[in-house]
Amino acid sequence: MTTELINELPEVLAHFDIFGKVVNVTQGPLITDVEVELEKGSKFAAVEKSIKDIARELGISGIRVAMIPNSKNISFELPQEKPQSVPFSQVLKDDVFKEADYALPICVGVNMHGKPLMKDLSKMPHLLVAGTTGSGKSVGLNSFILSLINKKTPDELQFVLIDPKRIEFSMYNKQKYMLLPVITEMSEAAQCLQNLCAEMDTRYAIFEQNMVRNIGEYVAKGKKMPYIVCVIDEFADLMMFDKAVEKQVQRLAQKARAAGIHLMIATQRPSVNVITGTVKANLPTRLSYKVSSATDSMTILNTTGAEDLIGRGDSLLLEENGTLTRILGAYVSNDDIMQMLEPYRCEMEEKKLSIATVEDTANSAENIEYAPEKKKSLWSRIADFWDRIGRRNQTRIINWIITAVMAAFGFKASSSNGTTRRRKTTSISATAKKEIARQVLKSLKKK
Ligand SMILES: Nc1ncnc2c1ncn2[C@@H]1O[C@H](COP(=O)(O)OP(=O)(O)O)[C@@H](O)[C@H]1O
Ligand SMILES: [Mg+2]
Repeated sequence: MTTELINELPEVLAHFDIFGKVVNVTQGPLITDVEVELEKGSKFAAVEKSIKDIARELGISGIRVAMIPNSKNISFELPQEKPQSVPFSQVLKDDVFKEADYALPICVGVNMHGKPLMKDLSKMPHLLVAGTTGSGKSVGLNSFILSLINKKTPDELQFVLIDPKRIEFSMYNKQKYMLLPVITEMSEAAQCLQNLCAEMDTRYAIFEQNMVRNIGEYVAKGKKMPYIVCVIDEFADLMMFDKAVEKQVQRLAQKARAAGIHLMIATQRPSVNVITGTVKANLPTRLSYKVSSATDSMTILNTTGAEDLIGRGDSLLLEENGTLTRILGAYVSNDDIMQMLEPYRCEMEEKKLSIATVEDTANSAENIEYAPEKKKSLWSRIADFWDRIGRRNQTRIINWIITAVMAAFGFKASSSNGTTRRRKTTSISATAKKEIARQVLKSLKKK
């Protein structure tokens, strides 16, 4: 059937005043890639515009058309009649995987020819993953985690896994690669991200003392410091629960790279209220599985197309330099995960909050304040709380205090002449109270 479609393609294109010939066909596990050389004057934009009608005339859905980098040809991607999946075990056996020698090598999937595509997470330096429910995000995240586990030792790499759904990462508990037990309570996630920020600051202080600029240079000096990869599944759920996580994710996305802390964040909805502009600007490498609308595709990839993906791991990778590659995620089952983790099982130690000081305790790190939330004074806790509750609640609290103070004075004074004094107190108008609250807020801000 696909052969017939391929033969029919030039004729269908001609109906739309697009002329060209098929020059190459590649069969992949999920799609057949048909390379077409357009005649001079036929425009790619015209093909893009008519792609839905071209698909309709061919009688199939889910065709995607793309420019081929550094080539004058374009490629039509037709879905396979019987899509195949690529098991992760197959990726593991491939030389491309074995030979990938990066700081944090991950296999993002396989390309059109079924060859693993290896990327360095440390260069990305973070990864944003989007896709509707059931499109393959969690399977993808698991395959990235397993790629790293297969290439790095627990001394070189530690994970922080945040899983608001509670089911995806549970098998990673009690395992040498885990910096902390899997975080499933949303209320703990913000604290955990804050600890990561603290860890980042500690690491920068250590770098400064050792006169190096980043983890690469530090490790090259023969010192020990593991990379930390923080994976968040269903980021949207977390954001809905606690907006405070945004600030911390933003800080990590902006600054954590040199400290060897990297994020992989998956979300169903890539919209601006989940992934804000600032966070997005700091997550230039993005992987989109099938999304529900062209708008979502635009939001995550800056172009349409992800809405036409097939699902089941079919994805588009947008790299920092703007290149867009179609890949199929490798499939990992729960059994695969259990089997691969088996050699690293251990009893979980007490929660390790900071690990920057893996070896340097004797000289440099001793004087460095780390995991500051442990040492936080009562006053700074109150200040944090104050910042978090927002202006409206701040005004309310100040209102209460004013009322209480007034009442207290009124009560004292009332011993001599109760009724009149008390009336005086309560007669303070709401506007006056608001004005006082405003002044107090203003002076607090100045502080
Ligand atoms: N790479 C893949 N190859 C084959 N099937 C896949 C792949 N990724 C996902 N699937 C199928 O899709 C289902 C849902 O995947 P999942 O990762 O849980 O989706 P999401 O996390 O996006 O909701 C899986 O149970 C599996 O059957
Ligand atoms: Mg999922």
